[in-house]
Amino acid sequence: MQKLFKIVKDSAPSLRKRSAEVTEINQEVIDLVNQMHDYLVLTQDDDFREKHKLREGVGLAAPQIGHNIKALVVYYEEENEDGSIHVVDHRLINPRIISESVKQVYLSGGEGCLSVDNEHQGYVYRKYKILVKAYDVKQQKETVITARGYEAIVLQHEIDHLNGVLFYDHIDKKDPFKQIPDAVRL
Ligand code: NI
Repeated sequence: MQKLFKIVKDSAPSLRKRSAEVTEINQEVIDLVNQMHDYLVLTQDDDFREKHKLREGVGLAAPQIGHNIKALVVYYEEENEDGSIHVVDHRLINPRIISESVKQVYLSGGEGCLSVDNEHQGYVYRKYKILVKAYDVKQQKETVITARGYEAIVLQHEIDHLNGVLFYDHIDKKDPFKQIPDAVRL
């Protein structure tokens, strides 16, 4: 039976805290990460989402379900040009960005978040390419992920949650749709 997490909203002080490193990677934390993954996948099922009045997500960080520890999941499917499906599935503990590009990227429609119900319009500029070091729950070992474009955006959004940062913190209050030269628009 899938656990239906109660999503912590951005009015909660816990979403503004820095989450703790996971010092011992045990079965309990691995189970939690896998449950977060299963929940995220279900939010992408139209019937399930309707029935349980959920919102659709592509990423989820542990503080959003009431655990202030450094763990996150990302899941989405995208169609390649040849029609085949590419699945992006990250289940990470203690992720940290070890390298990032100068080049930036942003979503033309702005970002959203399961913890944020109010609209916050404006561009969120992220690094176009990042290297993330983490413990990978699927591979059961430390790994380095190279992410570009949309995948890099989602990972940066989730890593921000582990540092108490929300996407709208990055929006320029005076000029929300400010253009940055050479940034990639998605
Ligand atoms: Ni979020």
